[in-house]
Amino acid sequence: MIVPVSRNGDGQAIFRDPAFTDNKNLPVHRWVPWIAGYSAPFVDDAISAFLPHHKKALILDPFCGVGTTLLQATLRGHDAIGFEINPYPALSARAKLNTAAINLAELDVLLLAMQAASAKWRSAASPKDAAAPPLKSRIPFFSPAVEKQVLHALTFINHIEPDSVADLFRAAFGAVMVSFSNYSYEPSLGSRPAAGKPLVDDADVAHVLLAKLHQMRADIAWLQAETEGRSLGSGQVINSDFFATNGQVATGSVDLVITSPPYMNNYHYVRNTRPQLYWLNFISSPGEQKHLETNNFGQYWQTVRDADPIDLAFEHAKLQKTIKQLRETRSDRGAYGGPGWANYVTAYFNDCYRFIAALKRVLARNGVGVIVIGNSIIQGINIRTETILGEIGAMQGLTLEGVQCIREKRVGASITQSSVRQGERSDATLSESAVIVRKR
Ligand SMILES: C[S@@+](CC[C@H](N)C(=O)[O-])C[C@H]1O[C@@H](n2cnc3c(N)ncnc32)[C@H](O)[C@@H]1O
Repeated sequence: MIVPVSRNGDGQAIFRDPAFTDNKNLPVHRWVPWIAGYSAPFVDDAISAFLPHHKKALILDPFCGVGTTLLQATLRGHDAIGFEINPYPALSARAKLNTAAINLAELDVLLLAMQAASAKWRSAASPKDAAAPPLKSRIPFFSPAVEKQVLHALTFINHIEPDSVADLFRAAFGAVMVSFSNYSYEPSLGSRPAAGKPLVDDADVAHVLLAKLHQMRADIAWLQAETEGRSLGSGQVINSDFFATNGQVATGSVDLVITSPPYMNNYHYVRNTRPQLYWLNFISSPGEQKHLETNNFGQYWQTVRDADPIDLAFEHAKLQKTIKQLRETRSDRGAYGGPGWANYVTAYFNDCYRFIAALKRVLARNGVGVIVIGNSIIQGINIRTETILGEIGAMQGLTLEGVQCIREKRVGASITQSSVRQGERSDATLSESAVIVRKR
């Protein structure tokens, strides 16, 4: 039976509602907007609850995004390893983990130099040898007056040394670039006209970028003062697919996993970061984008909908029944009806199974996994992902310690606004839960 968990058996929930303490307002965590699953205080709660006596533990986040788990773990003196398949959030996570080591005087020199150089970005011709990347978009991604400034900004950034400081500038550019483009996040990326917004014909790119960089500089100064004299843990971001490369983590070495894999809501991390991936030179072709998509946790509906029916790779009678029911819903619509969505759900749970197997391998005895995940409503069918994930853990020999609902009525989920929620009306609501498993 799944029971709500509490820290001391006193009925007090372990986790605060992550909605109240959003990363958007926290120094360093606020640098790059990301759909994160939880915020820094949630990580603090998990560390306090499950590592109360550890001076230095190893904490892993297999899907580390912009590094909430990693930064919080290292600030508390623990070592942290994160995997992140997408180079853009991986860059941000790496920049955050370098905060304590940044030389502020060196950074100030570069900020002043950028300020001075930017006086000519609007009037001078585009820099020689700089060109827009081959990012295909329905309307020009940047208007010409903006694009010229962007090319100047990137030329400046590409000459910055050392890499740790260049990473800061690149992360800042990635965080603000959509704000002066002809696209916007709603929360998925779409053209501004499609969202009823005007095109951005002109903008002061340097002003926006430098404002972001000055915010980051203030956060770096704050963190360095806060942590002075304290010994921080080491943090490492591995920019690769956790499934393919988790062998880099020794068997039985991890004390605590705190993570939030992509939810089964088809939020398309790869498509939504195409601007950053192309303009920061991480990818330069649709083939490279495809590689990221097909190796993403659960893949995407767009990637698997047309495939032959995918089989569930493990026994789970109830899930099997749900998938069958889904496959028969609106089957006349093929890839766009039940059959397409059934493939997505199956691929997603097959990855849940692979993930739990890797989790079990890397956890030390008595090690704990805290996995934040949301339920999903697909073609009108409420799929309790958190319950099924807990059951998969138990099937593989982990002890399911509990499932705690941490947020009702998830907000901003693309699932409620997209075609995902077509089909029969459902009274189910969306929520997010922490699934807690332990290796005995
Ligand atoms: C819900 S987000 C995690 C956010 C994270 N908690 C944070 O604080 O930013 C899930 C992340 O998993 C990443 N991801 C998806 N598939 C992956 C894979 N196979 N290996 C590593 N990371 C993956 C996505 O790119 C995304 O950033």
